[in-house]
Amino acid sequence: MFLQKLMLRQFRCFNQATFAFSPGLNILLGPNGSGKTSVLEAIFFTCLTRSFRTPHDSEAIMRDKDHAVIKSEWTDFGKVRVTLVRNFGKRVFLNDVLEEKYSDWIGKLPIVILSPDDAELINGTPQIKRQYFDRVFSQISHEYLSTLIRYTKLLKQRNAYLKVKNTRNSFIYDTQLETYDEQMAPLSEKIFFFRQEYFSQLNKALITLFHETDSRKIHVSIEYKSSLKAKDVSYVDTYLSEAKQNIQNEIILKRSFQGAGYDRIDFKRNQQSLKMGASQGEKKMWLICLKLAEGSFIHHYKNIEPLYLFDDLFSDLDIEHTQKLVKNIHHLKEIIITSTDLNDLRQQGVLPESGSFNIINI
Ligand SMILES: Nc1ncnc2c1ncn2[C@@H]1O[C@H](COP(=O)(O)OP(=O)(O)OP(=O)(O)O)[C@@H](O)[C@H]1O
Ligand SMILES: [Mg+2]
Repeated sequence: MFLQKLMLRQFRCFNQATFAFSPGLNILLGPNGSGKTSVLEAIFFTCLTRSFRTPHDSEAIMRDKDHAVIKSEWTDFGKVRVTLVRNFGKRVFLNDVLEEKYSDWIGKLPIVILSPDDAELINGTPQIKRQYFDRVFSQISHEYLSTLIRYTKLLKQRNAYLKVKNTRNSFIYDTQLETYDEQMAPLSEKIFFFRQEYFSQLNKALITLFHETDSRKIHVSIEYKSSLKAKDVSYVDTYLSEAKQNIQNEIILKRSFQGAGYDRIDFKRNQQSLKMGASQGEKKMWLICLKLAEGSFIHHYKNIEPLYLFDDLFSDLDIEHTQKLVKNIHHLKEIIITSTDLNDLRQQGVLPESGSFNIINI
């Protein structure tokens, strides 16, 4: 499955534009502000029905216009059309047939993206990390996504109920809370087991990739910890008993403390949190290896190689690391990288022998 063609109408700075892609390495070339990231954003919209830059879909519609259209053609898959209507919503069509549920669409066109905003993934809150990996795991398991949707809906209701109890000065564990927890505990358990397995697979791929690109013996890992404290009893029993123990503090702080919505994910480099000691370049290396690991993880579970979108790939990296990474990039099935200057890419050794890459001038 390859992305062959992308057509944009009234999307960001493009009134009307068409781009042709080919298997292997594609270079999206243009000066600052020419629309490179916007092209990647349109592809991301197509695959995951949302932007990676904003939670507000309407921001991606060209200023002063009321709608945008993203059309794309994929070999062995078909034609996809996404329409965004300002303050109204969006629709996804496959071969002119409306996709009724976005949750069924996620994962059909698997994708891995690296963008400058990913720095937030290292430095930001635990919630950003959870949301990020939920997006990755949802692409490979429909069951993961549907369990997560059900759990998150209940969690929102439970948190709203904690607020109500706070205003009523009621600090007891009542039957309403018990009903929520009995529904949420098995869902949270399911998510926990999925995450345990997925992080273990992802770690294997990450370690292999890291050692291929860095000759120093650095230990890297993603550490995943459940928010539940007790480990020796069954997950559901622990969940229900900790829910009762925590209740006073939860009502005071008006939010839940435990379950899949509060698990911790930490990036480690030589047993230290990546956030703390690592340099800019070391963080960037970590991120690129994570993305490549994500790609092989998706490939492992879905038997489909994802499309890679790499925005501003090699900034902050020295020549040695860049060249080692390049080896891993040249064999990918389809990758689109952005650049402002072809000479930079040439000097970094990113360009293979002439002719075996596709340049798309914006
Ligand atoms: N909704 C919109 N309507 C019209 N133009 C927009 C909209 N949103 C962003 N733009 C403009 O689109 C242009 C392209 O932005 P984009 O971030 O895609 O550029 P880029 O090529 O990635 O730049 P850089 O090299 O600096 O990363 C910018 O000038 C931006 O101001
Ligand atoms: Mg950009």
